Amino acid sequence: YKKIGIIGAMVEEIDLLHKHVEKSGSFEKAGITYVEGMLHGRQVVFCKSGVGKVNAAVCTQLLIDAGVNCVLFTGVAGALEPSLNIGDIVVSTTCLQHDMDCTPLGFKRGEIPFQEVYEFTADPRLVEIASNACERLFPGRSTKGKVLSGDQFIASREAVRELYEDLGGACTEMEGAALAQVCAMNGTPFVVIRSMSDKADGSAHVNFAEFTVEASINSHQIIDEMLRHL
Ligand code: ADE
Repeated sequence: YKKIGIIGAMVEEIDLLHKHVEKSGSFEKAGITYVEGMLHGRQVVFCKSGVGKVNAAVCTQLLIDAGVNCVLFTGVAGALEPSLNIGDIVVSTTCLQHDMDCTPLGFKRGEIPFQEVYEFTADPRLVEIASNACERLFPGRSTKGKVLSGDQFIASREAVRELYEDLGGACTEMEGAALAQVCAMNGTPFVVIRSMSDKADGSAHVNFAEFTVEASINSHQIIDEMLRHL
């Protein structure tokens, strides 16, 4: 991967990249600033996508247009898998849009009508590199699994049960599957790395606010460690 695209959802995380990347330039498009530079001898372009699937999709396409050969996404998510605790990490195996719902027409939940592939597979090599980086930094606290995305902050036990039991998600967030679809459309390898900020239940809003800074530091460390082994 000659040129690596990195997308963060949060300003805290992008600030850490600003601090550690040797910057060589930047450009702005669609209201998003893309910063180019070097990190551990690798050429990178990073940006803050903003929240939600549309922001993530536009941001990903513009990164690909800027010539990146792969896309890494870091941020926080709500845990769905009962064994996951706050602070644990999920590395995407696949990504699915849980709010894509044409079930009245006979399609499966998450299925994009008239499209064969709607669960997008992360690049196996990037998954291994991310997962190995997680295990070196946070032993026993990461898992590989399905990332569910939708333009909804999930904050109820009923919703968690549905997303976990019906769709098999390990965690839920608001960007990954949009990025994954754009990468699939372009044939660009990707991986999504998410630190659990909450359990997507009644306490999710409190935990989310509390955990953002810590999660940003964890995510940054993972990206940093990954880049040493890419
Ligand atoms: N990101 C972090 N926690 C989340 C949640 N509970 N729902 C959606 N996105 C999230």
